[in-house]
Amino acid sequence: MARILITSALPYINGIKHLGNLVGSQLPSDTYARYMRARGHEVMYICATDEHGTPAEIAAAKAGKPVAEYCAEMHEVQAELARGFRLSFDFFGRSSSARNRQLTQHLAKRLGENGLIEVVTEKQVYSKADGRFLPDRYIEGTCPNCGYDSARGDQCENCTKQLDPTDLINPRSAISGSTDLEVRETKHLFLRQSKLRDRLDAWIDSKKDWPILTTSIAKKWLHDGDGLQDRGITRDLDWGIPVQFPGAPWEGMEGKVFYVWFDAPIEYIGATAEWADANGLDDSAWERWWRTDKGADDVRYVQFMGKDNVPFHTLSFPATLMGSEEPWKLVDYIKSFNYLNYDGGQFSTSKGRGVFMDQALEILPSDYWRWWLLSHVPENSDSEFTWENFQASINKDLADVLGNFVSRVTKFCRSKFGEVVPEGGAYGAAEQAVIDEISTRLAAYQAHMEAIEIRKATAELRAIWAVGNEYLQEAAPWAVFKTDPERAGAIIRFALNLIRLYAVLSEPFIPDASRAMLDAMKTDVRDWPGDVSAALAELKPGHPFSVPEVLFAKITDAAREEMEERFKGR
Ligand code: MF3
Ligand code: ZN
Repeated sequence: MARILITSALPYINGIKHLGNLVGSQLPSDTYARYMRARGHEVMYICATDEHGTPAEIAAAKAGKPVAEYCAEMHEVQAELARGFRLSFDFFGRSSSARNRQLTQHLAKRLGENGLIEVVTEKQVYSKADGRFLPDRYIEGTCPNCGYDSARGDQCENCTKQLDPTDLINPRSAISGSTDLEVRETKHLFLRQSKLRDRLDAWIDSKKDWPILTTSIAKKWLHDGDGLQDRGITRDLDWGIPVQFPGAPWEGMEGKVFYVWFDAPIEYIGATAEWADANGLDDSAWERWWRTDKGADDVRYVQFMGKDNVPFHTLSFPATLMGSEEPWKLVDYIKSFNYLNYDGGQFSTSKGRGVFMDQALEILPSDYWRWWLLSHVPENSDSEFTWENFQASINKDLADVLGNFVSRVTKFCRSKFGEVVPEGGAYGAAEQAVIDEISTRLAAYQAHMEAIEIRKATAELRAIWAVGNEYLQEAAPWAVFKTDPERAGAIIRFALNLIRLYAVLSEPFIPDASRAMLDAMKTDVRDWPGDVSAALAELKPGHPFSVPEVLFAKITDAAREEMEERFKGR
């Protein structure tokens, strides 16, 4: 048994996430966590809301609420949606927690003591009307690059160029619209990441098994022009973790907070501490996951995230932990994803384009979404959601293959033998052939899950379901029953056992359907099959079962067209 620490990138607090966000981190990490638990490993699966920074402040202002209240409410909304999608976090924390504040200040202090933090005087835009500095998204103006008139202080949405607030032409405050702005000097903390370049470089080189998507992004940032520059890790904002705290190795930083990207990944640790607190455990309970001097040296730590998050997880966050010179657990494997597009374009919150998590659950059960998203997860390139593809996958894989198998077997048995596993004779050559094929495919499925090749794993799982259908088609118990009821009984006994096996193997992907199948088989035996032959002899003659409700309803053309219309955006 191994110990596996799994984290999913923390979703921003500002609003409900779309399916592209979901598939880019939370959903595949959940499947991986479920699989590893099913294999008997000890898993700690952590996520949280990322609550600081200008996006949170601006969203709260738009909602007309104090930011703390807005974040508390949105955290609950996101937690509820996570439950709806059956995301099995051991803890879903908040980056605004007391634990994260303590850890962030502690790590910053260590970095300061180790000579890795510098106080730098910079020029920032100050708004006299608002009485404050305007970092990042608090300032808008005309892009010097493309002329777009609503470019933000950190980036132009139109041409994607990274900007500095002082670059904007005709700048105005995004809060009040005031143009009465001036450039003032202000002090900030800079993290001297460049001093850690060689250590980071060697550490990344040691990760021979990392996916190319991950290492290529990391290497590019390490070696390209402005890659590993020393970066400002503080901002002139109210909402966030205070930079000036008792014992801080710097002065005069009152009224400033840490930059959101500095404190957010620290919340992976913070949320594990929150988990311990919530369960009445002491610090050793979370430290055994995070401190190599306290038991974490035998932990395997796997992170999941979208590709845009990779630089922060391969460079900035490891720099924070390494620079502390304390024995923190560093990530062992980073699984990163490309983007999911929506029907020939992008998901867009502002245009209401695409399906968002709350809407998805209103329309269809979470397993439908989980199955489509996981079987189309953008692993090797960007992928695209289309309603036709969604309809085809659900109708074929879930309804025709898996659902139909369960329905035919249980209904036929009920009508001919009653709601118990039939006696019948021994299994024969046809059953052995199925056992052999499933054994081979199961080994492949397991290998793909170990390698976190989610798409390949879904293909193998789908093939395992199809084996049952083909077997049933050829064995044709409905025909055999007329001449040899005993043999028909054996076929059905085998098929009922396949349903239980499918429930166990499918759980990481479609947990609700898995539960329904186990309930229908009136069993709770969910051990991962070591030996397929033994697993298919689990339900003995006379064992009761029931015919489940339709597991998966087909999506009609009319329903598909209606959804297509509803989510196409303005
Ligand atoms: N909120 C960020 C995003 O959605 C991800 C933060 S991951 C963390 O892109 F590790 F920094 F928390
Ligand atoms: Zn531009």
